[in-house]
Amino acid sequence: MRHFLTLKDYTKEEILEILELGVEIKKEVKAKNFVPRLANQTLAMIFEKSSTRTRVSFEVGMYQLGGHALFLSNRDIHLGRGEPVKDTARVISSMCDMVMIRTYEQSKLEEFSRYSKVPVINGLSDSYHPVQLLADYMTMMECGKDKNPIVAYVGDGNNMTHSWLMLASKLGFELRVATPKGYECDPAIIADAMEFAKQSGAKISISNDPKEAVKGATVVTTDTWISMGQEEEKAQRLRAFEGYIVDEALMALAEKGAIFLHCLPAYRGVEVSESVLEGEQSLIFEEAENRLHAQKGLMVWLDKHR
Ligand code: CP
Ligand code: NVA
Repeated sequence: MRHFLTLKDYTKEEILEILELGVEIKKEVKAKNFVPRLANQTLAMIFEKSSTRTRVSFEVGMYQLGGHALFLSNRDIHLGRGEPVKDTARVISSMCDMVMIRTYEQSKLEEFSRYSKVPVINGLSDSYHPVQLLADYMTMMECGKDKNPIVAYVGDGNNMTHSWLMLASKLGFELRVATPKGYECDPAIIADAMEFAKQSGAKISISNDPKEAVKGATVVTTDTWISMGQEEEKAQRLRAFEGYIVDEALMALAEKGAIFLHCLPAYRGVEVSESVLEGEQSLIFEEAENRLHAQKGLMVWLDKHR
């Protein structure tokens, strides 16, 4: 049985297999052909943080696959008032077929998965957001930007950046990360990515220079400067990230046909300008929709590997 807690645990072949399944299921659903690949199965969705896309895409995805999803916020279940993770894991996994968790610490996901009898999916933690990267790469595949991509990530060294590091180093493409001083990625995750890059041939560069990162890039991406749980740092972060906005001037340094991606929610005029977000190069809503399709590929893949 496999869990999906980070792309670190997955090979290039496995990542591409999941995506191919997602593409196949997307085609079927667009043709109104709903194949009940997960008939009678239940996905438990535990949310300790807010969500629009993750909740809707997993719930609708499970329904379209012939199954059912349960939304469990930490206000509703005893996990939120101190019932141990290991007890919650054993109870929920004795009744459900798969579990998706959005939480703070990656270690909580790891602990849950150790006690779970069914596959556990990371629906975002402070360290990683791997399901988002499946959708991001699917969006790149759909417009041919998966061919020798040069991806520039400009902004906070957060869960999204860490996941980009894993994806690039596993698949073997060029990734340039530009973060402000003091907001760099976790050095241990950078070290892991550099190790994987040696095998895959990925070219990874880390800097504090957004312009250098974006020059000639084929994909430009960013994320909020204030992730969930960092609300109190807002003022200090807004100051530290000055000059990191992805606006038209920065986009102009990228390759002519470059695309812009953002996992959303986006803050206009903060990490990205309204004109870039709403402009022709932006594929943010295709990217958001692909959460639905890519995650169905993932759930079907996990079901096959149990
Ligand atoms: N991108 C993403 O995970 O969005 P939500 O927080 O709305 O789920
Ligand atoms: N980095 C953001 C991503 C939201 C989808 C956060 O963790 O809040």
